[in-house]
Amino acid sequence: MVNLNSYYQLITLPKVTDSRGNLTFMEGNKQVPFEVKRVYYIYDVPENKTRGYHSHYDQHQFLIAINGSFEVVLDTGREQCRIIVDNPNIGLHIKPGIWHVMENFSKGCLLLALSSHEYDESDYIRDYNQYLKEQTML
Ligand code: TYD
Repeated sequence: MVNLNSYYQLITLPKVTDSRGNLTFMEGNKQVPFEVKRVYYIYDVPENKTRGYHSHYDQHQFLIAINGSFEVVLDTGREQCRIIVDNPNIGLHIKPGIWHVMENFSKGCLLLALSSHEYDESDYIRDYNQYLKEQTML
């Protein structure tokens, strides 16, 4: 049985502060713990809308609330937790194999996502029952 905690990690990114404001940066295989192949962002999410509802076979993701906040529910089928992502210098690393849902997007939230793979629909499990079936085989 794989422990829920082993599927994710919150990573604090560098923050360079001076009189001109803050600057945060990240590089693949350094602060971001995988080689980055793809970047996408989610924005203008209407109130009460939720996203995600899938798991990946191979893909790692790194999610940051560049502006505002959102919550991620992580679910192995046996354990669940909720992570609040609300700081532009903290990233949530989501490893493959965990069911995840994004919800409670604040008004004006900008979610930046870095991914270890190019987009490939065959890397997704979008059916929760299918996910549970594959989890029990682990
Ligand atoms: P979807 O997986 O539903 O987004 P979320 O994870 O936020 O629930 O993706 C929405 C659509 O965008 C879907 O048709 C797949 C497409 N898409 C791409 O073409 N490339 C990408 O990199 C991503 C993330 C999604």
